Amino acid sequence: MPGTKASEGVAKGAEAQPRKVAEAAAARKPQAEPAAPAPASKKPIGMGKGLEGIIAAQTSICFIDGEKGILSYRGYDINELAPHSTFEETTFLLWEGHLPTRKELEAFKAELASRRELPPIAFSVLAQVAKSMGPMDALRTVVSALAAGRNDADKYSVEVDREKAIETTAQMATIVAYYHRLRMDREIVHPDPKLGHAANFLYMLTGKKPTPAAERAFDVALVLHADHDLNASTFSARVTAATLADYHGAITSAVGTLKGPLHGGANIEVMKVLLEIEASHEDPTDWVEHQLAKKRKIPGFGHRVYKTLDPRAIHLEKLSKSLGEQAKDTKWYNMSLKLQKAMKEQKGIDANVDFFSASSYYVMGIPLDLYTPIFAISRVAGWSAHILEQHGDNRLIRPLSEFTGTLGKRYVPIEKREGPLVATKKAN
Ligand code: COA
Repeated sequence: MPGTKASEGVAKGAEAQPRKVAEAAAARKPQAEPAAPAPASKKPIGMGKGLEGIIAAQTSICFIDGEKGILSYRGYDINELAPHSTFEETTFLLWEGHLPTRKELEAFKAELASRRELPPIAFSVLAQVAKSMGPMDALRTVVSALAAGRNDADKYSVEVDREKAIETTAQMATIVAYYHRLRMDREIVHPDPKLGHAANFLYMLTGKKPTPAAERAFDVALVLHADHDLNASTFSARVTAATLADYHGAITSAVGTLKGPLHGGANIEVMKVLLEIEASHEDPTDWVEHQLAKKRKIPGFGHRVYKTLDPRAIHLEKLSKSLGEQAKDTKWYNMSLKLQKAMKEQKGIDANVDFFSASSYYVMGIPLDLYTPIFAISRVAGWSAHILEQHGDNRLIRPLSEFTGTLGKRYVPIEKREGPLVATKKAN
C-alpha cells in the first residue's frame, strides 16, 4: 500500500478494518435483511511511515496548522497566551476548556501549591535512584512510584484522573528539583507555597528566589511547552490510557517517550551542538555546511507537522535574547541566530521549540541534562488533558500494520535447520 501524506480521515481507536472482513460479516446476515454497506470508517485508510498524515484521534484541546505556523490551546492562539498567561492558568485552560475566573485561578493555584511535597515512598525511591539514574529515567521511575499507597491507583474517572493530574503536575517539578539536589549532595529545598509554579521550581532547584524576569521567562517557557496535540509522548499517554490503564501508567509511558532525542531530548542535544561549535572555533555557517555534507541531523531543526517556523520558537527566541542580555552573555543567542540562518539557507529547514530553549536555559544556569525533564514538568499538563479527554470518550487505540514478511512457512525441527546460527558455530 503506498504511503500517503494527506490526512485521510479519522478512525476512532485507530481502527481501519479490512474491507473483506466487513463484507464477510455482511454476507452472513439473513437474506431478508439487506446487507448494509461497509461503513466508510471500516476501510483501511492508508499508511504513512511514522503515522505521517494519519489522524488518530479527535480532540478539542489543541490545534496546529503546520503550513501557516499556528498553534492554539482550546482555541486561544499561542501568541495570545505566551505574553499574558501563566503555567497555572494555561493548565486550567487545557483541563477545563475555558480560561479561569480570578476565583477559579486562585483556587487552582492554591490546590497545586498545596500538593507539591512528595509522598514518603516516592521520596525514598528518588533518594535511591538519584545517583544511579539519569534525570529522565529517575523521573519515569518516581512518577510511577507516585501511585504507591493510593487506594484509587487502579481507578479512573474524570474526578479521579483530575485529582491525580493536579497532584502529579505539582509533584513532577518537585521530583526534578529534588533529584538534582540529591545527586549533588545538596540539602533539599522544600517547596514554598507562596511562590507560583515557575518561581517555586527555580527556588527548589537553586535554593534562591528567582528574579521577576527569570520567573517570567521560565513561566513563558512552561506555557509554550504545555501541549502540542498528538506529539509522540502524548500519543503514548493516550494509547496507554485507552487500554483503561491508570493515569500514572499513562504518564509513565509519556515520560519514557519524551526522553528520545527525536522528541523532547532534542533540547539537550541543541546545547551540546552549540558547545561543540564553540569548541571547534568554526563559524556556525561553515559548521552547518560540513555537518549537512555528512548527512547529520541538526537537533532543534525540522518538525513532522510544521513546514514553517515553529510559532513557539518565535517566543523562545525573544526569551533567549532577553535572558542573554540580562546575564551579559549573548554568545549563545548570537550563535543560535547564525545557526538558524545557515540551516534555513542551506537546508530550508526552520527551528523548532527545542532550538532556543537550549540557549535560554543555559544562560539561566540550568544543568543541560535537566532541559528534557523541564519539558516534562510542563507537558504533563497536556498529557493530563489528553488522558482526561481519552477516558471521557474511550475506545482502545489499536491500528493495523502492513505485513511485509513471508507467509506459509512450515515448522522445521531444530536439528534440520541450517542458517546463520550453524554457520556461526562452524566459524567458531
Ligand atoms: N537536520 C538536518 N536535516 C533534517 C533535519 C535536521 N534537524 N530534520 C529533517 N531533516 C531533513 C531530513 O534529512 C530529510 O531530508 P532528505 O529528504 O533530504 O533526506 C527531510 O528533512 C525530512 O526529514 P525526516 O527525518 O523524514 O522528517 P520526520 O518528520 O520523520 O522527522 C524530526 C521530524 C523532528 C524527527 C526531524 O526533523 C529531526 O530529527 N529533527 C532533529 C531532532 C529534533 O529537533 N527533534 C525535536 C522535534 S520538536
